[in-house]
Amino acid sequence: MVSNITKTYSTSEIRTLKAKYDKLLSEVSLHDRLYYRENSPRISDFEYDCLKSEMERLREILTVYSVEIKDTAVGDDSNSGFKSFAHLSPMMSLSNTYSREELFQFSNHLEDVLGQRKFSYVIEPKIDGIAINLIYKRGKFFRALTRGNGTLGDDVSANIKTIRGLPLEIENDAEAIEIRGEVYMDKQTFIEINKMREEQELELFANPRNLAAGTLKTLDLDEVIGRDLKLITYAIGHCSEKIGNLQSEVLELLKNLGFASQEKYWIATNIEEAWKCVEELNGMRHTLPYWTDGAVLKVNELQLYETLGATAKSPRWAIAYKFAPERATTRIKNIILQVGRTGIITPVADLESVQLSGTNVSRATLHNADEISKKDIRVGDYVTVEKAGEIIPAIVAVDSTRRSVGSIPFVFPKTCPSCGSQLIRLPGEVAWRCQNLCCLPQIQRRLEHFVSRTAMDIDGLGTAVIEKLMAVKKLNNIADIYRLTFNDLECLEKFGPKSALKILSNIDSSKNRPLWRLIHGFGILGIGEQTAKILASHFHSLDNLIGATPAELEQLNGIGTKLSNAIVAFFREQHNLDILNDLRMFEVVSGDGSLEVAQNQNSKFYAKNFVLTGTLSSMTRQEAIEKIEHLGGNVANAISGRIIILIAGENCGSKLEKAQSLGLEIWNEADLLENLNEGVA
Ligand code: IVH
Repeated sequence: MVSNITKTYSTSEIRTLKAKYDKLLSEVSLHDRLYYRENSPRISDFEYDCLKSEMERLREILTVYSVEIKDTAVGDDSNSGFKSFAHLSPMMSLSNTYSREELFQFSNHLEDVLGQRKFSYVIEPKIDGIAINLIYKRGKFFRALTRGNGTLGDDVSANIKTIRGLPLEIENDAEAIEIRGEVYMDKQTFIEINKMREEQELELFANPRNLAAGTLKTLDLDEVIGRDLKLITYAIGHCSEKIGNLQSEVLELLKNLGFASQEKYWIATNIEEAWKCVEELNGMRHTLPYWTDGAVLKVNELQLYETLGATAKSPRWAIAYKFAPERATTRIKNIILQVGRTGIITPVADLESVQLSGTNVSRATLHNADEISKKDIRVGDYVTVEKAGEIIPAIVAVDSTRRSVGSIPFVFPKTCPSCGSQLIRLPGEVAWRCQNLCCLPQIQRRLEHFVSRTAMDIDGLGTAVIEKLMAVKKLNNIADIYRLTFNDLECLEKFGPKSALKILSNIDSSKNRPLWRLIHGFGILGIGEQTAKILASHFHSLDNLIGATPAELEQLNGIGTKLSNAIVAFFREQHNLDILNDLRMFEVVSGDGSLEVAQNQNSKFYAKNFVLTGTLSSMTRQEAIEKIEHLGGNVANAISGRIIILIAGENCGSKLEKAQSLGLEIWNEADLLENLNEGVA
């Protein structure tokens, strides 16, 4: 942004600045590559923007002193694997600022250039997604290009066409028109995907922007459909015909053409008013379904754009004001090493509690050993904690100047902090693992998982009760749950006969859960709820699953070598087979078929995938799921490429539209009841 160079620099100072600039340039180029091409940034947007703005400041000085310097290009997102094509008009970026003062300077500059000409502003949310250019020819969808290098973009048409509601035809007969917008993943979808990954102990996606960017560049169409990308349009690039006078009209036109367009935007007649709109957006942005990292201020009058012009990278008629991420300084009291269900050791910073984005933060994940040593994070350090995009708080910086004299680097242990076994690192993994299946925290996590709502759903057996029962050696493995007696429970602290009886009754009812719940409950590496359902509906009984070969397993949707190996290894382990035998003895895996999916291969549900949406009047959602699963069907949460049938109840939302656009089979409640009746007969 605009800055005034008041100081005079000596030749040697200029040389130092040039060296600093070159260093920054290579740093920024590295981060551009990580962000745009690999979708895995190593620094936060804020840190990146600070580097860029420092570079900009140095560039200004060096230009005044006529020093020849290189510059970065617009971040290039192109990947091999996609054909690239030219945009009809270049796709630029926006200059940005975190400072109110610079926003007002932007306005002063507009007034200087435009003089007497009146203008107004449009203020829009800045969507944290991936820029897209949709080209239509004579009203028909022609292709979708990513920004690429600004001139040439990658053709991602096939993936873009999976976006629900994307018009393939529009009422516009211009020879060619470019519709510009942002592809994003909504908050809810992102949270659900991460929840599933957490269940499978897979590394979580850091933020929806990178996940959406990675998805857009995925060659597996099924995967793209499952990720449910969304689109918001906000501009028209090239158009062979005239398109109105105002940006606000463009937003309405886009809506009328059938595109999702900015639902919320403001018009302001001066910068003070515009600032109020920015503040209002800041106050309500958490209620929007997508992440916004700022506001875009645009001159509303399109005919002024030519006069205002552009720099090499961004137009002078718009600017992005970015909301600084909320940060706070606090101190690391301790670094705790948590042992997960599958033995992964996760380091967590125990912080002096601090207020951040309206919540009390006292923990921050440190991810893994590499992350700690890369940032040289130590116990006792003062650190900056950031909560970006409402996600997990992270430590973004260590203040080494406030370190005490005796401070020593954190040494990640070589042995398990709980059982002392040697830790190992599996090939290709950053995490250290404890491989001792008898390690107590692992046993506890496995028990917690087994009784959890998405597995055997045993109410009352929470973390505290499990811990107490483990302490008195009444619980060592999942089969022990079925050995528990009234006495074992009643004598626990704060337990009476009533709660003991309730838990025993809940344990008893869990013996009749569907097979997939039991499979999921075992906590086999990488086997989440969905995969457990696929396995249950294919194998029908635990014995069949135990006898499955890797080749048989790999024929199933979503099961590759890694999962098939994990399943086979799990059932080869004698220790596990002994526990399964005990479960059989307690009739958890009884031969009465209660845990088996009905083998009626003629049922309309057999081996099919269903998605339920809306409300059913004759049964609850859970009842419907159980009935469908009993007849051999799988029920998924989101529509993916493999879903065959959507069951639409009353007031169903977007899933119905999506299913229609994908041409899927759709049942209403009456169809469901009819098929259930047939299935039961
Ligand atoms: S207008 C010349 N409006 O932010 C570019 N861009 O950081 C005109 N973005 O490249 C773009 N929300 O991908 C515009 N409401 C909005 C936006 C928006 C997000 C993206 C866009 C742009 C990037 C710049």
